[in-house]
Amino acid sequence: MSAGNHTIKLGILGSGSGSNMQAILDAIEDGSLNAEITIVLSDNPDGYILERAKKAGIPAEVIDCGGFTTKFPDQSQQALAEKLKALDVDIICLAGFMRLVKQPMLDLYPNRILNIHPSILPAYPGLEAWQQAVDDGATESGCTVHYVDAGMDTGPIILQAKVPVLANDTADTLHQRIQVEEHSLYPAAIRKVAVEIKP
Ligand code: GRF
Repeated sequence: MSAGNHTIKLGILGSGSGSNMQAILDAIEDGSLNAEITIVLSDNPDGYILERAKKAGIPAEVIDCGGFTTKFPDQSQQALAEKLKALDVDIICLAGFMRLVKQPMLDLYPNRILNIHPSILPAYPGLEAWQQAVDDGATESGCTVHYVDAGMDTGPIILQAKVPVLANDTADTLHQRIQVEEHSLYPAAIRKVAVEIKP
């Protein structure tokens, strides 16, 4: 395990563009986050997150979900846990990862699995939180980094950042504004968790 003055090892899981993974990498490279990205894993073979990782020279692999499109089967969860443990990963960062992480990961990584969600939780959990905020006529939204538990977007909150919802916002413009905040919030949340990890 790495902590204190040691470099924290991150395993990042994502399904899409990977802009949060990039922001974490940028924070590492500019020296504001003492960590390394040990591996990037995606359930989506076409996820741009894999390309970003490869361009940065980070090991990047596809998670075999047994052909299921949304389910994350037990066997795949087990294989994932074994891979991350074998790599001695300290903290798992879900960054746009579209499947629910369950056992044995939750027990193997207590308070070590983080997720970023594009709303001020507990408001608007689940899919397309930015669309939910616009549809609801919200005047404020934002993003949350939280610990992952067995629920969907329900774990203890680590950090949040707010953004205004403007009168002419579409789901896309709101999501873009939220993502700007996400990109500084996620490295800050990792820093906060890292200092709480005892060697
Ligand atoms: C982010 O908005 C995050 O909050 C949500 O999915 C999106 C992922 O974006 N969970 P990216 O793949 O990091 O660009």
